Amino acid sequence: MQSTVSSTTKKYQMTPSEREAFQTAFMAWYDEHRRDLPWRQNQEPYRVWLSEIMLQQTQVQTVIPYYERFLATFPNVEDLAAAPEELLLKTWEGLGYYSRARNLQKAAKQVVDDYQGKWPQTSAELEKLAGIGPYTAGAIASICFGEVVPAIDGNAFRVFSRLLKIDADIANPKNRSIFYDAILPLIPKDRPGDFNQAVMDFGSQVCTAKNPTVGDTELAPFFRSYQDGTLLDYPVKTKKAKPKPVALFAVVIESEKGFLFQKRPSTGLLANLTTYPLVMAEDLQDDESELLTPEEQMTRIEACFKEAYGLTLAHLKPVPVKPVTHVFTHLKWTITLLSATIAKDSDLAFFPGEWYSKAALAEIAMPTVQKKMAQRFDSL
Ligand code: ADE
Repeated sequence: MQSTVSSTTKKYQMTPSEREAFQTAFMAWYDEHRRDLPWRQNQEPYRVWLSEIMLQQTQVQTVIPYYERFLATFPNVEDLAAAPEELLLKTWEGLGYYSRARNLQKAAKQVVDDYQGKWPQTSAELEKLAGIGPYTAGAIASICFGEVVPAIDGNAFRVFSRLLKIDADIANPKNRSIFYDAILPLIPKDRPGDFNQAVMDFGSQVCTAKNPTVGDTELAPFFRSYQDGTLLDYPVKTKKAKPKPVALFAVVIESEKGFLFQKRPSTGLLANLTTYPLVMAEDLQDDESELLTPEEQMTRIEACFKEAYGLTLAHLKPVPVKPVTHVFTHLKWTITLLSATIAKDSDLAFFPGEWYSKAALAEIAMPTVQKKMAQRFDSL
């Protein structure tokens, strides 16, 4: 007879009595140890959604003050939908990954325009909103609307791979469904939101990547990998490629009008954000194999400013400080700071940027890499 349940799914199942005992112990653990976090004060979808977006890639302790400030600035989804982009980015400043902030506003506008300000209540509908993937949709739908659906992030991969000895590579998106199928039957029907939040807390407080303390809890008997001493072999994950090194020059140009800043293009890394004018070292070369002396690099940067922007740099020279390094997801920037001057009445018609006084700079959103450059420059 053909089974309706695949062998993979079966391997990770618990018996009904084991499952019930696990659910009882797990929810009891949560009731005793749950963290009192600002986004747990109520189940308003706007608040829960905002916290989940901020918590992607950022630690709880870092998020808390940003979360409070953001809510004070934009108390509801209508305020966020109508916010000027500069204020939005300024309020997000320091959290990084600015596409999250832009998607946040896109989703807010979708809720206001397409759903008349009323949040969709299922994970399938929530996934149609900008910046909301299966994890975030599962978190919001379970916490706010009681949908029985897993919220699978790094914590969930770690907890359930260890609990059930799931040896599927978590770096492979195709394996997500293995986790989904294994977790779904474990969710108590009456407390799906608490269950998912219990996973978050247990994963970040107990079943941690290094030095997990699962053995000190009532959950130890259920953790198959703990029982056979293989806890740290899970999750199975293939190594990520190292961020690719990229060399750049930043040209710090100061005049009586302030500093010359470049607004970055509306797509790509640091879209629409403001930095010192940047030149990629690679763009100075005729081909990949060409090696340039520092003097040749200076000459070509001058040529580049002339050709691209019609600007004549003078006194171009390295700033005697260490280069600034900054890691994005896939790239590692190493930025050599240069200083230069240009005539103060230079025509900026072809330059994508403008002069900013120190006071004006305080008003605009600065990406972290720009803050690092400014700090390094000021350390001179
Ligand atoms: N990590 C991701 N989402 C979280 C949440 N809602 N609470 C605590 N940690 C989290």
